[in-house]
Amino acid sequence: VVMKEVSGLRLLETTLKEAFSLAEVVVVSGDSDSSLFVKNEMGRAAVSCIKERLVDSKKIVAVTGGTTLAAVANMMTPEIKHPDVLFVPARGGLGENVQNQANTICAKMAEKSMGQYRLLHVPDQLSDEAYKSIVGEPSIREMIQLIKSASMVVHGIGDAMTMAERRRTSSEDLEKIKKGHAVGEAFGYYFNQKGEVVHKVKTVGIQLDDLKNNKCVIAVAGGSSKAKAIRAFMQQAHHSILITDEGAAKELVRDF
Ligand code: G3H
Repeated sequence: VVMKEVSGLRLLETTLKEAFSLAEVVVVSGDSDSSLFVKNEMGRAAVSCIKERLVDSKKIVAVTGGTTLAAVANMMTPEIKHPDVLFVPARGGLGENVQNQANTICAKMAEKSMGQYRLLHVPDQLSDEAYKSIVGEPSIREMIQLIKSASMVVHGIGDAMTMAERRRTSSEDLEKIKKGHAVGEAFGYYFNQKGEVVHKVKTVGIQLDDLKNNKCVIAVAGGSSKAKAIRAFMQQAHHSILITDEGAAKELVRDF
Protein backbone atom coordinates (compact mmCIF):
# COMPACT_ATOMS: atom_id res chain seq x y z
CA VAL A 1 0.00 0.00 0.00
CA VAL A 2 2.83 2.37 0.89
CA MET A 3 4.54 1.75 -2.46
CA LYS A 4 1.28 2.45 -4.25
CA GLU A 5 0.87 5.73 -2.39
CA VAL A 6 4.42 6.76 -3.17
CA SER A 7 4.09 5.94 -6.86
CA GLY A 8 0.84 7.97 -6.91
CA LEU A 9 2.73 10.98 -5.59
CA ARG A 10 5.54 10.48 -8.13
CA LEU A 11 2.95 10.41 -10.92
CA LEU A 12 1.46 13.68 -9.67
CA GLU A 13 4.96 15.19 -9.63
CA THR A 14 5.83 14.23 -13.21
CA THR A 15 2.39 15.25 -14.50
CA LEU A 16 2.66 18.71 -12.94
CA LYS A 17 6.26 19.14 -13.99
CA GLU A 18 5.40 18.52 -17.64
CA ALA A 19 2.14 20.46 -17.64
CA PHE A 20 3.73 23.67 -16.35
CA SER A 21 7.28 23.15 -17.74
CA LEU A 22 8.76 23.28 -14.26
CA ALA A 23 12.31 22.42 -13.19
CA GLU A 24 11.15 20.15 -10.39
CA VAL A 25 7.99 19.30 -8.48
CA VAL A 26 7.78 17.73 -5.02
CA VAL A 27 4.38 16.55 -3.76
CA VAL A 28 4.10 15.60 -0.08
CA SER A 29 1.33 13.35 1.13
CA GLY A 30 -1.89 14.85 2.61
CA ASP A 31 -3.65 18.21 2.45
CA SER A 32 -2.29 21.20 4.39
CA ASP A 33 -5.76 22.82 4.40
CA SER A 34 -6.71 20.37 7.10
CA SER A 35 -3.38 19.52 8.72
CA LEU A 36 -0.55 21.61 10.11
CA PHE A 37 1.59 18.48 9.97
CA VAL A 38 1.35 18.51 6.16
CA LYS A 39 2.39 22.18 6.01
CA ASN A 40 5.45 21.29 8.07
CA GLU A 41 6.19 18.38 5.70
CA MET A 42 6.15 20.86 2.80
CA GLY A 43 8.52 22.94 4.89
CA ARG A 44 10.83 19.96 5.34
CA ALA A 45 10.77 19.22 1.59
CA ALA A 46 11.53 22.88 0.85
CA VAL A 47 14.50 22.85 3.23
CA SER A 48 16.08 19.87 1.49
CA CYS A 49 15.43 21.48 -1.89
CA ILE A 50 17.08 24.73 -0.74
CA LYS A 51 20.10 22.83 0.58
CA GLU A 52 20.49 20.72 -2.54
CA ARG A 53 20.45 23.76 -4.76
CA LEU A 54 22.74 26.09 -2.83
CA VAL A 55 25.85 26.63 -4.90
CA ASP A 56 29.23 27.59 -3.45
CA SER A 57 29.62 30.90 -5.19
CA LYS A 58 26.01 32.00 -4.82
CA LYS A 59 24.55 31.99 -1.39
CA ILE A 60 22.02 34.78 -1.07
CA VAL A 61 18.53 33.45 -0.45
CA ALA A 62 15.51 35.81 -0.58
CA VAL A 63 12.36 34.69 1.23
CA THR A 64 8.78 35.97 1.30
CA GLY A 65 6.29 35.86 4.16
CA GLY A 66 3.21 33.80 5.01
CA THR A 67 2.39 30.78 7.14
CA THR A 68 3.89 28.33 4.62
CA LEU A 69 7.25 30.10 4.58
CA ALA A 70 7.06 30.23 8.38
CA ALA A 71 6.79 26.41 8.26
CA VAL A 72 9.88 26.29 6.01
CA ALA A 73 11.77 28.36 8.61
CA ASN A 74 10.56 26.05 11.39
CA MET A 75 11.97 23.04 9.62
CA MET A 76 15.34 24.64 8.79
CA THR A 77 18.42 22.83 10.11
CA PRO A 78 22.10 23.87 10.35
CA GLU A 79 23.72 24.20 6.95
CA ILE A 80 27.16 22.63 7.19
CA LYS A 81 28.19 22.83 3.54
CA HIS A 82 27.41 26.54 3.19
CA PRO A 83 27.81 28.12 6.63
CA ASP A 84 27.95 31.64 5.20
CA VAL A 85 24.58 31.58 3.46
CA LEU A 86 22.88 34.99 3.67
CA PHE A 87 19.10 35.26 4.03
CA VAL A 88 17.27 38.43 2.98
CA PRO A 89 13.55 39.26 2.89
CA ALA A 90 12.17 39.45 -0.66
CA ARG A 91 10.01 42.42 0.35
CA GLY A 92 9.21 44.75 3.21
CA GLY A 93 6.59 44.16 5.87
CA LEU A 94 3.03 43.52 4.77
CA GLY A 95 0.98 44.36 7.81
CA GLU A 96 0.84 40.64 8.54
CA ASN A 97 1.31 39.09 11.97
CA VAL A 98 4.93 39.41 12.93
CA GLN A 99 5.61 35.65 12.76
CA ASN A 100 4.43 35.61 9.13
CA GLN A 101 6.46 38.58 7.93
CA ALA A 102 9.35 38.08 5.52
CA ASN A 103 11.81 39.78 7.90
CA THR A 104 10.95 37.44 10.78
CA ILE A 105 11.09 34.35 8.58
CA CYS A 106 14.39 35.46 7.11
CA ALA A 107 15.96 35.95 10.57
CA LYS A 108 14.63 32.61 11.77
CA MET A 109 15.97 30.74 8.75
CA ALA A 110 19.39 32.29 9.31
CA GLU A 111 19.34 31.46 13.00
CA LYS A 112 18.33 27.84 12.46
CA SER A 113 20.71 27.28 9.56
CA MET A 114 23.51 29.11 11.44
CA GLY A 115 23.75 31.54 8.56
CA GLN A 116 23.59 35.33 8.28
CA TYR A 117 20.69 37.71 7.63
CA ARG A 118 19.98 41.29 6.64
CA LEU A 119 16.58 42.90 7.08
CA LEU A 120 14.53 45.40 5.11
CA HIS A 121 12.73 47.86 7.37
CA VAL A 122 10.30 49.29 4.88
CA PRO A 123 6.52 49.01 4.87
CA ASP A 124 5.01 47.34 1.84
CA GLN A 125 2.04 48.97 0.03
CA LEU A 126 3.72 52.36 -0.48
CA SER A 127 2.30 55.53 -1.99
CA ASP A 128 4.18 56.78 -5.09
CA GLU A 129 5.64 59.63 -3.10
CA ALA A 130 6.86 57.51 -0.20
CA TYR A 131 8.21 54.92 -2.64
CA LYS A 132 10.33 57.51 -4.45
CA SER A 133 11.82 58.94 -1.31
CA ILE A 134 12.46 55.53 0.30
CA VAL A 135 14.31 54.09 -2.71
CA GLY A 136 16.40 57.27 -2.72
CA GLU A 137 17.86 56.39 0.72
CA PRO A 138 21.39 55.00 0.13
CA SER A 139 21.13 52.27 2.81
CA ILE A 140 17.78 51.07 1.47
CA ARG A 141 19.04 51.25 -2.09
CA GLU A 142 22.02 49.06 -1.14
CA MET A 143 19.72 46.55 0.56
CA ILE A 144 17.44 46.41 -2.50
CA GLN A 145 20.47 45.71 -4.71
CA LEU A 146 21.47 42.90 -2.38
CA ILE A 147 17.95 41.43 -2.44
CA LYS A 148 17.80 41.60 -6.23
CA SER A 149 21.17 39.87 -6.46
CA ALA A 150 19.84 36.79 -4.61
CA SER A 151 20.57 33.58 -6.47
CA MET A 152 17.65 31.81 -4.86
CA VAL A 153 14.12 33.01 -4.11
CA VAL A 154 11.78 30.98 -1.90
CA HIS A 155 8.19 32.21 -1.93
CA GLY A 156 4.60 31.42 -1.04
CA ILE A 157 1.50 31.67 -3.22
CA GLY A 158 -1.81 32.79 -1.78
CA ASP A 159 -5.45 32.68 -2.79
CA ALA A 160 -6.19 36.18 -4.15
CA MET A 161 -9.17 37.14 -1.99
CA THR A 162 -7.70 35.57 1.14
CA MET A 163 -4.52 37.59 0.71
CA ALA A 164 -6.33 40.82 -0.22
CA GLU A 165 -8.40 40.58 2.95
CA ARG A 166 -5.51 39.52 5.14
CA ARG A 167 -3.54 42.56 4.00
CA ARG A 168 -6.33 45.03 4.64
CA THR A 169 -6.42 46.10 0.99
CA SER A 170 -8.28 49.35 0.24
CA SER A 171 -11.80 48.99 -1.13
CA GLU A 172 -10.64 50.54 -4.41
CA ASP A 173 -7.91 47.92 -4.91
CA LEU A 174 -10.23 45.17 -3.72
CA GLU A 175 -12.63 46.18 -6.47
CA LYS A 176 -9.81 45.99 -9.04
CA ILE A 177 -8.80 42.54 -7.80
CA LYS A 178 -12.41 41.31 -8.02
CA LYS A 179 -13.06 42.86 -11.44
CA GLY A 180 -9.86 41.32 -12.78
CA HIS A 181 -11.03 37.89 -11.56
CA ALA A 182 -7.79 37.42 -9.64
CA VAL A 183 -7.37 33.94 -8.23
CA GLY A 184 -3.78 33.95 -7.01
CA GLU A 185 -1.23 36.22 -5.35
CA ALA A 186 2.54 36.16 -5.00
CA PHE A 187 5.10 38.97 -4.40
CA GLY A 188 2.21 41.46 -4.22
CA TYR A 189 1.08 40.60 -7.78
CA TYR A 190 -2.48 39.37 -8.31
CA PHE A 191 -3.02 36.90 -11.18
CA ASN A 192 -6.12 35.78 -13.06
CA GLN A 193 -6.50 32.13 -14.04
CA LYS A 194 -4.50 32.64 -17.22
CA GLY A 195 -1.55 33.87 -15.19
CA GLU A 196 -1.99 37.50 -16.25
CA VAL A 197 -1.28 40.25 -13.71
CA VAL A 198 -4.50 42.13 -12.91
CA HIS A 199 -3.24 44.14 -9.95
CA LYS A 200 0.10 44.89 -8.34
CA VAL A 201 0.94 46.35 -4.96
CA LYS A 202 3.72 48.91 -5.27
CA THR A 203 6.53 47.49 -3.20
CA VAL A 204 10.28 47.63 -2.88
CA GLY A 205 12.06 44.32 -3.20
CA ILE A 206 11.74 41.46 -5.67
CA GLN A 207 9.64 42.19 -8.75
CA LEU A 208 8.31 39.55 -11.12
CA ASP A 209 10.89 40.51 -13.76
CA ASP A 210 13.73 39.90 -11.30
CA LEU A 211 12.79 36.21 -11.20
CA LYS A 212 13.83 35.78 -14.82
CA ASN A 213 17.47 36.61 -14.14
CA ASN A 214 18.91 33.17 -13.76
CA LYS A 215 17.61 32.63 -10.25
CA CYS A 216 16.60 29.39 -8.65
CA VAL A 217 12.94 30.07 -7.79
CA ILE A 218 11.20 27.77 -5.31
CA ALA A 219 7.45 28.14 -4.74
CA VAL A 220 6.05 26.48 -1.62
CA ALA A 221 2.25 26.28 -1.58
CA GLY A 222 -0.29 23.57 -0.87
CA GLY A 223 -3.83 22.78 0.22
CA SER A 224 -6.67 22.01 -2.20
CA SER A 225 -8.06 25.52 -1.62
CA LYS A 226 -4.92 26.98 -3.22
CA ALA A 227 -5.03 24.91 -6.43
CA LYS A 228 -6.44 27.78 -8.54
CA ALA A 229 -3.86 30.19 -7.14
CA ILE A 230 -1.00 27.78 -7.79
CA ARG A 231 -2.20 27.13 -11.34
CA ALA A 232 -2.44 30.88 -12.03
CA PHE A 233 1.08 31.58 -10.82
CA MET A 234 2.62 28.53 -12.50
CA GLN A 235 1.20 29.54 -15.92
CA GLN A 236 3.94 32.15 -16.05
CA ALA A 237 6.61 30.63 -13.80
CA HIS A 238 8.30 28.20 -16.15
CA HIS A 239 11.48 26.56 -14.81
CA SER A 240 10.45 27.21 -11.21
CA ILE A 241 10.48 24.51 -8.59
CA LEU A 242 7.15 23.75 -6.92
CA ILE A 243 6.86 22.19 -3.48
CA THR A 244 3.22 21.32 -2.86
CA ASP A 245 0.95 18.72 -1.29
CA GLU A 246 -1.36 16.00 -2.50
CA GLY A 247 -4.48 18.09 -1.79
CA ALA A 248 -3.41 20.81 -4.22
CA ALA A 249 -1.78 18.44 -6.72
CA LYS A 250 -4.87 16.26 -7.13
CA GLU A 251 -7.01 19.33 -7.68
CA LEU A 252 -4.49 20.70 -10.21
CA VAL A 253 -4.40 17.55 -12.36
CA ARG A 254 -8.17 17.12 -12.28
CA ASP A 255 -8.59 19.27 -15.41
CA PHE A 256 -5.80 17.69 -17.45
O1 G3H B 1 1.87 35.51 -1.01
C1 G3H B 1 1.38 34.50 -0.55
C2 G3H B 1 1.29 34.31 0.87
O2 G3H B 1 2.49 34.64 1.47
C3 G3H B 1 0.87 32.92 1.23
O3 G3H B 1 0.61 32.88 2.61
O4 G3H B 1 1.50 30.67 3.22
O5 G3H B 1 0.04 31.93 4.77
O6 G3H B 1 -0.90 30.92 2.70
P1 G3H B 1 0.29 31.52 3.34
